[in-house]
Amino acid sequence: MGSSDSSRRVRGETVTRERPEAMEGPSKYRIDRVDSIPSPALIVFRDLVRRNIERMIGVARGAGRLRPHCKTHKMAAVAHMELEQGVTRHKCATIAEAEMLAEAGARDILIAYNMVGPNIERIVRYRRRYPGVELAVTADDPGAALALSAATEAAECAVGVMLDVDTGMHRTGREPGPAAEDLYAALCRAPGIRPAGLHAYDGQNHQTDLTERRAAVDRTWNATRALRDRLVARGFPVPRIVAGGTGSFPILAEKEDPALELSPGTVVFHDAGYSAMFPDLPFEPAALLLTRVVSRPSSGRLTVDLGYKAVAGDPPMGRRVSFPELPDAREVLHNEEHLVLESSLGDRFRPGDPLLAIPRHVCPTTALHQSAIVVADGAVVDEWPVTARDRFLHL
Ligand SMILES: Cc1ncc(COP(=O)(O)O)c(C=O)c1O
Repeated sequence: MGSSDSSRRVRGETVTRERPEAMEGPSKYRIDRVDSIPSPALIVFRDLVRRNIERMIGVARGAGRLRPHCKTHKMAAVAHMELEQGVTRHKCATIAEAEMLAEAGARDILIAYNMVGPNIERIVRYRRRYPGVELAVTADDPGAALALSAATEAAECAVGVMLDVDTGMHRTGREPGPAAEDLYAALCRAPGIRPAGLHAYDGQNHQTDLTERRAAVDRTWNATRALRDRLVARGFPVPRIVAGGTGSFPILAEKEDPALELSPGTVVFHDAGYSAMFPDLPFEPAALLLTRVVSRPSSGRLTVDLGYKAVAGDPPMGRRVSFPELPDAREVLHNEEHLVLESSLGDRFRPGDPLLAIPRHVCPTTALHQSAIVVADGAVVDEWPVTARDRFLHL
């Protein structure tokens, strides 16, 4: 792709070419008639998403071993694809995501988040609105769990509660020691609550070296499994252990424990960050950004319409996006609606030229867009709303 003019200068020569209607790049990212798509836009390559889901199921050794997290896509269309491929259990972080999943047809949903404040009443309303959904939430605090128990008991709508285990990330959860056992015992005694097992996300296990990652995942898994075994020995039901993200679920998938449910999220869209961090994984970026050059302030410098209201401001400046066509691009300034780049190839581009960008962190990037343009075989075939980017849908 490149200039919209019939000629442009490449390394000092004038090159005549057809006005580019198609955006080629690597052929899997071909977009015909790119000129009809306003930028910035989130572009989802449908068949790559489907392939990532197939590969996720393959790595897990069966759809029945998965409980994928929907935070990456927040879209009913992707939930439908998962359901069509036999994924029946789902995980999310917000009540809006749980609503989106229920409306999409999911019937077994874990909100991996501790319910506090007005969200407790929203859970009661959720149970009333979606009585056919088996719903669970997480807890790591006796006071919050008892407040939830009181509300669901009074409303006669019991909810599953999983004990959140701190596997070493130190974000939420209880370390797998005696206090965790006591809290699980309290969950088992509380009315209005069904003890639903252990939630053990290990987002700290991001080692690029596979041997190191495997050792770390094995350590966290063994500690969680030992906690489960002690609880079972005390007579408590522990029906499931939900564990793992993109980097750890292939290692966890090798464990034969029938209670284990694997919960990767990013894999469905994947991104430049995880591609670099986990070169051993078979997933491909499937959600890219269409951007255009809006200015060329000086030689070698390009400004594109990809501010941090279109691509996530996480990770830090300088590492937020990568451009297959500008492999040496350096991010030198990032504002709300502008991203300024410097590249040795910058002078090949001029205002109006389209570029595809791979977000470094796709999950918060998706949430910046109202909808995604869906491309298959080079053609725009659909537009999918990012429904659960909103915090409040019905409840
Ligand atoms: C609780 C929880 N589970 C699962 C995931 C999915 O992990 P990943 O994005 O590495 O696939 C996340 C990611 O943030 C998470 O917070």
